[in-house]
Amino acid sequence: MSDELKRQAAERAVDDIESGMRLGIGTGSTAEFFVKALARRVREGLDIVGVPTSERTRKLAMELGIRLSTLDEMPQLDVTVDGADELDPNLALVKGGGGALLREKIVASASGQMIVIADASKQVPVLGRFPLPIEVVPFGLESTRLAILNVLAGLDLPQTLTLRGGAAQPFETDGGHFILDAHLQEIKNVKALADRLVAIPGVVDHGLFIQLATKAYVAAEDGVKTVFPL
Ligand code: A5P
Repeated sequence: MSDELKRQAAERAVDDIESGMRLGIGTGSTAEFFVKALARRVREGLDIVGVPTSERTRKLAMELGIRLSTLDEMPQLDVTVDGADELDPNLALVKGGGGALLREKIVASASGQMIVIADASKQVPVLGRFPLPIEVVPFGLESTRLAILNVLAGLDLPQTLTLRGGAAQPFETDGGHFILDAHLQEIKNVKALADRLVAIPGVVDHGLFIQLATKAYVAAEDGVKTVFPL
């Protein structure tokens, strides 16, 4: 059922896309429904250019005949449509469950609007139930891990970090970085955490997206709701 809801949210977002738009295209299973629906519109004549947020999305979009470009060629975009792992009532997000958080954040930041597509299970009163992905440089991993634990302790947050994929074969992002997932349960101080994490030299970025989403389409059994930041 969740797949059906993801599809409904994705299809609603496609209705917002107009010919001539420069479009950021997200990553994940919900974003894949968006890519498929977008490709159908393209075949019907919708004329857009997309910038994918991951190699996985690039491959799918290319296979389906969506015209693609890069942020270097098209540094300002009109809209990005992407999924999320969690959204709070003010549309702060946790993203990066699929490992594409860095490119997703760069692309969303280069866009005039960011539309989030999700099923209602992603809505939470407070972010943190979904482990927060923190993208780190492999060099100095242990020092960076300790610095992150220090930040978490300073904010009275649980100090549980797991290296995605495990030590023997860590998951590698499109940028060649690793991901530490922080199991926090409830992040009451989202802004402070975000600021302190990016101040650590070995941290490339984290999955907290603050004041980036301008609208969300959230699909539940009783229909797709449009949500705006408070
Ligand atoms: C990818 O890195 C993520 O940010 C995804 O947007 C997020 O994990 C949502 O994915 P699903 O749509 O598969 O739940």
